[in-house]
Amino acid sequence: MDSLELIRKIPKAELHLHIEGSLEPELMFEIAKRNQIPIRFQSVEEVRKAYSFSNLQSFLDIYYEGARVLLKEQDFYDLTWAYLLRCKEDHVVHTEIFFDPQTHTHRGVSFETVFNGIHRALCDARVEWGISFKLILCFLRHLTEEDAFETLRQALPFKKEIIAVGLDSSELGHPPSKFKRVFEAAIAEGFLTVAHAGEEGPPAYVREALDLLHVSRIDHGVRSIEDAALFGEIVRKRIPLTVCPLSNVKLRVFPELRKHNLKKLLHAGACVILNSDDPAYFGGYLNQNFIETAKALELNGEEIRKLAENSFEGSFLESSQKDAWLQKIREIK
Ligand code: HPA
Ligand code: ZN
Repeated sequence: MDSLELIRKIPKAELHLHIEGSLEPELMFEIAKRNQIPIRFQSVEEVRKAYSFSNLQSFLDIYYEGARVLLKEQDFYDLTWAYLLRCKEDHVVHTEIFFDPQTHTHRGVSFETVFNGIHRALCDARVEWGISFKLILCFLRHLTEEDAFETLRQALPFKKEIIAVGLDSSELGHPPSKFKRVFEAAIAEGFLTVAHAGEEGPPAYVREALDLLHVSRIDHGVRSIEDAALFGEIVRKRIPLTVCPLSNVKLRVFPELRKHNLKKLLHAGACVILNSDDPAYFGGYLNQNFIETAKALELNGEEIRKLAENSFEGSFLESSQKDAWLQKIREIK
């Protein structure tokens, strides 16, 4: 079987996907129109042209701008449904989705509106074709600790449906330590934890995420390898790294895909997982990330299988469900 066919056929889990980052320009225009929200672009082509970024912040500015069109529960439903259709196409059988409530509550949209729209789409897809899912609430790290505490409070009525809390947005200058207390409070409420760290930020931020936020996974974490002791621990403890190659190139974490360290991380024994991050902005959903990365780094079938296996190993599925998917992967010849 060639690589393309293997990538298409193999079941995969996606563990690093910002639902607001799956807002395609076409849907942005459609929702803007029905909500009568002005947007500064004249056409879908013009929007796409603006998607040229110099770093994380230059992307975040436009990502928050795009999210302004989302007001009603149906908007969040349509956004999520469109992403789920792409999962179906790419044989993503399990997805763990980040959502950023503060991006919306700060504009007067209630937590409940955001949550209900996303969750209803997920439940409908589960009924329709059997995809499984988890939801992860991300705190925006450029905002204050108090704001994160308020968001945690708003999440409590929905806590049975939210597996974990995470940390995203501008990394530099906003170390994990800023959120130590709110993560402790979230853990006391029964949430698991994850955090973006070591994307643009130094390995010291990864260390803080592990020691102070008690994370189960590191989102990105590509810079962990700069600290041998830290990286050794990540390998030994099989702490998953949810790596996003197309994102990393778009945001200039690596100058080109051929220079990405994913293969190096994988061969050093880390539990590396491939993800799309913000696919509407970074040029591709999960299979596109697999295809382009496999080509640029010359990944063989065994390495592609390992990435798919890791996606289930690193997920928040029950171990019996993980085993069932690992068995299915073994059956693909
Ligand atoms: N990094 C940090 N914050 C984000 C990202 C990312 O790649 N995408 C959406 N919010
Ligand atoms: Zn991300």
